[in-house]
Amino acid sequence: MFQISRRRFLGGMIAAPVLSAIPFPSAESGTVQPSLARAAHSNGRFFGAAARIDQIDAEPALRAAMLRDCACLTPEIHLKWDSLEPAPGQHDFAPADGLADFAKANGLKLRGHTLLWEQSTPDWARRAIARDKDWSLIERHFGTVMPRYRSRIDEWDVVNEPIDSEHGRGGLRRNSFFRAFGPDYIRRALDEAHRHAPGALLMINDYGFDYDNPVEEDRRRLMLRLAERLKREGAPLGGIGVQAHLDLSKGPFKPRIVRDFLRDLAGLDLRIVITELDVKEQDLTAPIEVRDARVAAEVGAYVETALAEPAVKGIVTWGLSDRHSWLQDQVEQPSSLKGPARLNRGLPYDSKLEPKAMYWTLREALLT
Ligand code: XIL
Repeated sequence: MFQISRRRFLGGMIAAPVLSAIPFPSAESGTVQPSLARAAHSNGRFFGAAARIDQIDAEPALRAAMLRDCACLTPEIHLKWDSLEPAPGQHDFAPADGLADFAKANGLKLRGHTLLWEQSTPDWARRAIARDKDWSLIERHFGTVMPRYRSRIDEWDVVNEPIDSEHGRGGLRRNSFFRAFGPDYIRRALDEAHRHAPGALLMINDYGFDYDNPVEEDRRRLMLRLAERLKREGAPLGGIGVQAHLDLSKGPFKPRIVRDFLRDLAGLDLRIVITELDVKEQDLTAPIEVRDARVAAEVGAYVETALAEPAVKGIVTWGLSDRHSWLQDQVEQPSSLKGPARLNRGLPYDSKLEPKAMYWTLREALLT
C-alpha cells in the first residue's frame, strides 16, 4: 500500500501550486519543491527533524534539505544539560544559540529538548543531586535555560524517558532524580518548568510504545497511568512526545495498538507529537531497494495511523539523512558490506542527501 512510485510523487508535484500558496520558509521564487513541511502543513500538522548547527554549517546540502523540508527543528544535543553546562556554572550556549538563530532567521520553530534526562545529565550534577538531594540545582538549571529561549521555544520536553517497565519502581525509571526526590520529581519538574515558561506547552517524551510485545504493552499502560495521575493532580502537563524509534525486528506493526494508545492519551486532553521517528533495520544485507521498501512501508503505516488521531500535531524525524543518524551507533554493520550500504537506512534521505522511498512515503502519508 505504501509503495509510492516516483511517478506518483511527480503527480504530487503537479498539484503543488495549491501547496505553494502555503508560506514555506525556503520557497524560492516560483520553484516548486518537494517538501515534507508543506505536505504536513496542508494537513494542519507540522513536520520537523532533529538537527545540529555544526552539521548544518558544514554541509550546504543538509542545510538546504533542512530549509526545504522542516518547519521545526529539535536540537539533537545542544540543549541537553551536559552540552550546556559541562562543568558547574560554566555554560556554553554557542551551539544552542547558533541553531536558535538559524531557526529564527529562516522562520522555523524550535522544540525544547530536553531538560531532565538521565543520559544527558552531566556527571557533576548527578553527583551533586545524589549527595545533596537539593532541588535548587534543578531550579537553577531550568531558570538558566528556559527564559533564555522564551521567545523561541514554546514546547519543551521537560522530562525525557521516565518510564521503565522492567527495572523501575512503580513503572518509573530509578534515575538520579527519582532516587533523590522520589516519584514526585516529574510533577515538580513540570511545575518548575511552568514557573520559568508559563506560556510553554510542557511534555513528557518517551520511547517503546509502538509494538505488540509484553514490554511495550506494559510501557503504554505505565505511560497512560503516569499521565492520568499527573492530570488528576493538576500538573501542567500539556502533551506527550512519542519518540517512535521504529524497529523492523519488532514487527509486524499493528495499527490498532498504536491507534488505541494515541486515542487514550488524547482522551486525557493531551497534545501528541511524534518526536523522534526513524527506523532500525533488521537485515542490512538485503538489496538496497528491498531495504528501502521495508523502511518506507513501516513509516507509511505508522504515520498514517498516527495522523488518524487528531491530537497528533506534528511528526519529527530524528535527523534527515542516514549519514547523520544516531542509529549508526546502534546497529551492527555486517562486515560483508562495503561503503554506504553498511549504514542503516532509516531516515528520509540517504547518505548523499538523495531522498529515498521513506521520503516519498512519508510525504504521501502527511498529505492524506
Ligand atoms: C541521542 C542523539 O541522537 C545522540 O547524538 C546523543 O549522543 C545521544 O542522544 N532518545 C532521545 C534523544 O530522547 O535525545 C536521543 O538522542 C536518542 C534517544
